[in-house]
Amino acid sequence: MPKLKHLLGIRDLSAETIHMLYELADRFYEVLQQPTRKAPALTGSTVALLFFESSTRTKLSFELAAKRLGADVLNFSAAGSSLAKGETLLDTALNILAMGVDAFVIRHQGVGTAHFLAQRLPVPVINAGDGTHEHPTQALLDTYTLRRYFGYLQGLTLTIIGDLFHSRVALSHLHLAPKVGLHLRLCAPPSLVPPTWYNLGFPIYHNVDSAIRGADALLVLRMQKERQKQPPIASWEEYARHYQVRPEHLSPHQVLLHPGPINWGVELHPALIQAPNSRILDQVTHGVAIRMAVLYALLRG
Ligand code: NCD
Repeated sequence: MPKLKHLLGIRDLSAETIHMLYELADRFYEVLQQPTRKAPALTGSTVALLFFESSTRTKLSFELAAKRLGADVLNFSAAGSSLAKGETLLDTALNILAMGVDAFVIRHQGVGTAHFLAQRLPVPVINAGDGTHEHPTQALLDTYTLRRYFGYLQGLTLTIIGDLFHSRVALSHLHLAPKVGLHLRLCAPPSLVPPTWYNLGFPIYHNVDSAIRGADALLVLRMQKERQKQPPIASWEEYARHYQVRPEHLSPHQVLLHPGPINWGVELHPALIQAPNSRILDQVTHGVAIRMAVLYALLRG
């Protein structure tokens, strides 16, 4: 297997690499169940986190993953940095590199920013979300959660509902599903389906009931209001009336996922907060193991 140099998108990963990452995550998941929760395989390494967009889960779990592996973590925050004085992103990264950094994790509003840095830095770069493009570790942890729950992925049907147009999570899943044998269904109002997606071979629904019926799992996506100019249909109330996932949509054996943050009352009905088939917090737990796997594979694999 060729050594993994960067993690920029699921598009670049082979099925073999994806399975290797799941298996590594299994090992780290076991470590996280032990009292010490540490596998100090990256002692002496330093990971820099460059987050230019807000984040709770992704940033904290990358930080925790690096620390559980014994690495040092450098947290860069754009606010208060020399970017305000006109320093470029590349200069910023090169200066941080000069302090002795072994890997960068970057989230940025610009599509392709992680690729841009990866071409110019001599160390691994991990894309933690580039604009509306990809968010590979999220798709890995979502599918890892299904793999842990069902024991396999091959042949499962996953329905993704929500803002397909602006979600980087959706695009990463489009690349991931065929590589692991997941059947993907997509559901959104027409205004939130990128026109080219109709030609990709995935069934596209505009009706929540039919999209969910018979599926093994459901991944609900947040309305990316910060990236939308207007509501996807006439009003937000209208959107919620027709596209919100509610308790009556779900049967007890169907698994509910959401990458977070959730806008309760928009894409998900608040009564689902305590839903027994929700694996939403498991996704967060598994995010640490997946990110440990990615850091380990890039720095030691
Ligand atoms: C996602 C993201 O940032 O793309 N969240 C996450 O990483 N946990 C999804 C979202 O913001 O809706």
